[in-house]
Amino acid sequence: MSVDLAARLAAWKTLVDARLDAWLAPKESFPQPLFDAMRYSLFAGGKRIRPAFAFAAAEAAGGAEDEALPFAAVIEMIHTYSLIHDDLPAMDDDDLRRGKPTNHVLYGEGIAILAGDALLTDAFGWLAGPDVAAHHPPARVLRILGEIARAAGSCGMVAGQALDLTSEGKDVDLPTLEFLHTHKTGALIRASTVVGGLAAGATEVDLGILSSYAERVGLAFQIADDVLDVEGETAELGKPVGSDESLSKATYPAVIGMGESKRRAAELMESAVACLAPFGARGEVLAALARFVVERRH
Ligand code: IPE
Ligand code: IPE
Ligand code: MG
Ligand code: MG
Ligand code: MG
Repeated sequence: MSVDLAARLAAWKTLVDARLDAWLAPKESFPQPLFDAMRYSLFAGGKRIRPAFAFAAAEAAGGAEDEALPFAAVIEMIHTYSLIHDDLPAMDDDDLRRGKPTNHVLYGEGIAILAGDALLTDAFGWLAGPDVAAHHPPARVLRILGEIARAAGSCGMVAGQALDLTSEGKDVDLPTLEFLHTHKTGALIRASTVVGGLAAGATEVDLGILSSYAERVGLAFQIADDVLDVEGETAELGKPVGSDESLSKATYPAVIGMGESKRRAAELMESAVACLAPFGARGEVLAALARFVVERRH
């Protein structure tokens, strides 16, 4: 049975967007620029791939979509905060994101920083809120909260982003680059997948499989992002091509070359798919997602 991944992604996006819309204060809330800026980036049209990992993992573990939904939505809030901050002049200084002007271009740096802060902090507020508590036991919620916090914080994404900044203009070796990519991007993708499993009450064995799969896909995702920054089309990508080169970023193409980067991404994808063997047919959507990660054009 082949998976219609485009249809699944579209359906999951609708679910997540509806949940985010219900959670977020209306645009007209006071002080208005803050809520405008939060909504602007959140609904600017991302792929919602991290929610997709959570939903697909829940499915692989035998669970239902609505069990994973609140976690998928909070992870997308955290991801969106990371993009708003990543685009700031103090970081990558980009002016296009998701095909639209970046948050600070429209709202100014101060409000962009605060919109990011609010999305990150509110995400944890929602995790501790009644929507989650009504469907999941407290011990599970606490474990999920810990997974997400570790993935986003100073031992996860923020560590990777810090290394990304301090590596600009330097010759980094491959182990350092792998650390950078597995942290700035891999950690949240791994957490999305494992949290999807946790939401569905997955066994420890299944959680181990999900984690091994997602570590590989997470690294492949950032290698593909680096490749697209060189070979992609701005119109398709929705963000500026050539941004990494102009800042002398540590990327896979810069360190090991374009051909080797693509080979490495494909190898990671194959290895991720192989991890799913024990799931049998239950792992088909996760396998399709892994392929999408390295074949995508945006
Ligand atoms: C972009 O992530 C930032 C990285 C971690 C590479 P996505 O490619 O998932 O961006 P959106 O959410 O679809 O805009
Ligand atoms: C960003 O990596 C990873 C984040 C945690 C936001 P990039 O800087 O390569 O992401 P893009 O290319 O701007 O989306
Ligand atoms: Mg960056
Ligand atoms: Mg960037
Ligand atoms: Mg990039």
